[in-house]
Amino acid sequence: MKEVTESAEWLELQKHYEEIKDQHMRDMFAQDDNRFDKFSAELGDILLDYSKNRITEETMSLLIKLARYVKIEEWRDNMMSGVAINTTENRSVLHTALRNRSNKPIRVNGRNVMPMVNEVLDHMRDFSEQVRSGQWRGYNGERIKNIINIGIGGSDLGPHVVCESMKPYAQRGLKVFFVSNADATHLVETLKDVDPESTLFVIASKTFTTQETMLNAFSARKWFLDLVGNEKAIEKHFVAVTTNVELATQFGINEANTFAFWDWVGGRYSLWSSVGLTIALYLGMEHFESLLEGAYEMDQHFLNAPLEHNIPVIMALLGVWYNNFFDAQSHAIMPYSQYLERLPDYLQQLDMESNGKTIDRNNQRVNYLTGPIIWGQSGTNGQHAFFQLLHQGTKPVPADFLIPALSQNPLGLHHRVLFSNCLAQTKALMLGKRYTEAVEEMQAQGVDKKTIDDVIAHKVFDGNKPTNTIIFSKLTPKTLGSIMAMYEHKVFVQGIIWNINSFDQWGVEYGKVLAGQIQNDLCEPGEVSNHDSSTNGLINYRKSIYFDNLAKNKLD
Ligand code: F6P
Repeated sequence: MKEVTESAEWLELQKHYEEIKDQHMRDMFAQDDNRFDKFSAELGDILLDYSKNRITEETMSLLIKLARYVKIEEWRDNMMSGVAINTTENRSVLHTALRNRSNKPIRVNGRNVMPMVNEVLDHMRDFSEQVRSGQWRGYNGERIKNIINIGIGGSDLGPHVVCESMKPYAQRGLKVFFVSNADATHLVETLKDVDPESTLFVIASKTFTTQETMLNAFSARKWFLDLVGNEKAIEKHFVAVTTNVELATQFGINEANTFAFWDWVGGRYSLWSSVGLTIALYLGMEHFESLLEGAYEMDQHFLNAPLEHNIPVIMALLGVWYNNFFDAQSHAIMPYSQYLERLPDYLQQLDMESNGKTIDRNNQRVNYLTGPIIWGQSGTNGQHAFFQLLHQGTKPVPADFLIPALSQNPLGLHHRVLFSNCLAQTKALMLGKRYTEAVEEMQAQGVDKKTIDDVIAHKVFDGNKPTNTIIFSKLTPKTLGSIMAMYEHKVFVQGIIWNINSFDQWGVEYGKVLAGQIQNDLCEPGEVSNHDSSTNGLINYRKSIYFDNLAKNKLD
């Protein structure tokens, strides 16, 4: 089969790129008063302004042609109807079924999954209401005040960003913590803030075998038992979210307190499943369901809107435009909202674990760039850290700016300042500053000619740096659900264009195997020589310090 880069659609884009690559957005705006209207799209209370991109109407129409060439609509329909598009694991990809608010049947191997989905939602509703109302009590009758989610990757990042972003909707008196890292510090420091009587651990792991999660879960269990001394009490303080009920039961968790999900839900797409239990506990089931509603609304838009007006499709195509034609290596995410501080972390896994691939669906090595490096930070903090590189560095970095029109905390001038900074950045990145403008500005400030000559080159900004602005009225659970689903579909569309399977993660699995081998080599004193010299050297260095220390402590 032909590579996408050999298609007439791709070659046309390549030709078009050569024609417009030197055009400046400043001139594009000057020549067209309707640019904002032409290049913006709306869904509910979300507006995507993509006019500050290096595009013309022709660019968009050629990109849409590319989407049609890769049969994006057919792939989308296949995904949403349960076809096993995760071919390397022979699985369906049905996170959209988890938020299918229409309840229309969706089948996997002929079986409608909606009754199972609804049953788990009922289970989550029932349990979260019991905990939140105080009906569910700890082993000694105390009310639950702390929820500790133990999980990693998709079993951490999704619920974490939602709980953090939705703080205004949380029940006061209920605290939530997330423990993910294998570094004991994460657990130890968290446990310092809680007592066992009022703490509920949610062990979230699709497989219930992930090393970090199981390590933390067993250490938490030990901490609990050391303080409480009663095995029976575990079932009041530990619940599981997993596809592996058997292992959860072996851990000591009552099957009735195990919340199921299924292998057709990828880890990084799992927050909509029972992995959202921590969200339901912290925010209440009604807010978790609003999150699902928002995602469903985006799913319907993705399914029904023409490609030309389809927000995730547009965002995906713009990403391909920069990634493959401008050779942009990364894509930045700038939420101008403190509540969304963790969004870049969540999107890193969603995008990079999905599209960080080199082998295509035909088992061939690709000859083009696939997924970008995703990074970012909340504004305005990022402005005082890395924005300099965006403005005057040598690397092109397309970026998404996200901002609410209304703040959840309307305090004095804060939101006006935040909002103006957000727009000032995208404007400056687009416009830049010409040599003549910089000179005039310095002259107006009364700067002498010699100083101007000495520094003027540094005061010029090329501009022409592309950004999307995603503005929404207020950060509600529904809006957040839509935004997260928007990015999921964006990543999906890009994966289809690059002809890769966005739903496996073999690279991560390889690291896990090597970690197991090295762990064995650390057990006994004495040098190892079975690895490369760097790995041997580092293992032996740690061993000499560790075993010396052990011997000394024994002597003390
Ligand atoms: O990082 C690899 C990965 O498999 C992710 O895809 C997943 O979200 C994470 O590990 C955690 O896996 P589990 O939920 O099975 O513990």
